Amino acid sequence: MSAAAARPLSPLLLEVREGLSRVQKELPSKLFYDRRGSLLFEKITRLPEYYLTRAERTLLATRMPAVIARLAPRTLVELGAGSADKTRLLLDAMRAAASGAGVSDGTYVPIDVSAEFLRETTTQLGEDRPGLRVLPVVADMVETLALPRALPRPALFALLGSTIGNFDFPDATALLRRVRDAMCPGGTDRFLLGIDLRKDQRVIEAAYNDAAGVTEEFNLNMLRVVNRELDADFDLRAFAHRAIYNAQAHRIEMHLVAQRALRVSIAGMGVVCFRAGESIRTEISCKYHRASVARMFAKAGLLLEEWIRGTGPAYALALGSRAA
Ligand code: AVJ
Repeated sequence: MSAAAARPLSPLLLEVREGLSRVQKELPSKLFYDRRGSLLFEKITRLPEYYLTRAERTLLATRMPAVIARLAPRTLVELGAGSADKTRLLLDAMRAAASGAGVSDGTYVPIDVSAEFLRETTTQLGEDRPGLRVLPVVADMVETLALPRALPRPALFALLGSTIGNFDFPDATALLRRVRDAMCPGGTDRFLLGIDLRKDQRVIEAAYNDAAGVTEEFNLNMLRVVNRELDADFDLRAFAHRAIYNAQAHRIEMHLVAQRALRVSIAGMGVVCFRAGESIRTEISCKYHRASVARMFAKAGLLLEEWIRGTGPAYALALGSRAA
């Protein structure tokens, strides 16, 4: 008898096996975000070339207080909350609107796959804002949108940080459809989406090819995660970071390019062969304009009500309601 016990393949291994057997090899972007990867991403958000985070923060700080005063949401549901950093701007506006109306600070429902991040966020917010009710939900927004019952309405649903860009059109509309289904029919619930816009492709490419090499490190970190999580032997030095704008598909793509022919073994999966110059696509980040967002909203049963954009590098907040 062979010593190796037959173990069922994990869902992650199946996903990786499927991705690496495509003509264009792929790995799921969620593999970026271990501890190290999350810290590298935070570093990216502070890079001079990476305009997205600053542009979004400016719009949230300058334009959302008026919107929130008008909508008076009692609940904020945030998809992919992460460290909930920019969320504070929305919570501040909610608190200001609530104190004007003489009601409580409201309810915050952060949804994230990382229980660790959620725990930190919940503890932190509990200290900073004793009046806020925090109901964390550990879930993958890609799979379900199971919310606590009887949330105070109106609710504002938010998906920020250009996260929607990581999904292709069918997956993005499916995700927005689930948000729409969670909104009260005929009510005053709203959906807030942060979107990176189409612009001079050199500006976009620079944002994903920073001079300090942080994005390169972030991209390569995925192989480290695969080595650890799936007992693989990727040689990080044999791969190079590449981020290129695909003008037909309106998206930046990140790849890891094999610098020579090589063979990688992954436990439970066998050997994967690479030709010199062959790449693994690790991320897509789609760029939109108003018409493409309106189309995506319509497909998901949402109505684009408001388009909020500033004067800086093209970035927008889209506000939607549930279509009748
Ligand atoms: C967090 C997914 C929005 O696509 O711009 C940053 C991730 N990748 N630099 C993005 C990312 C490379 C980021 N998102």
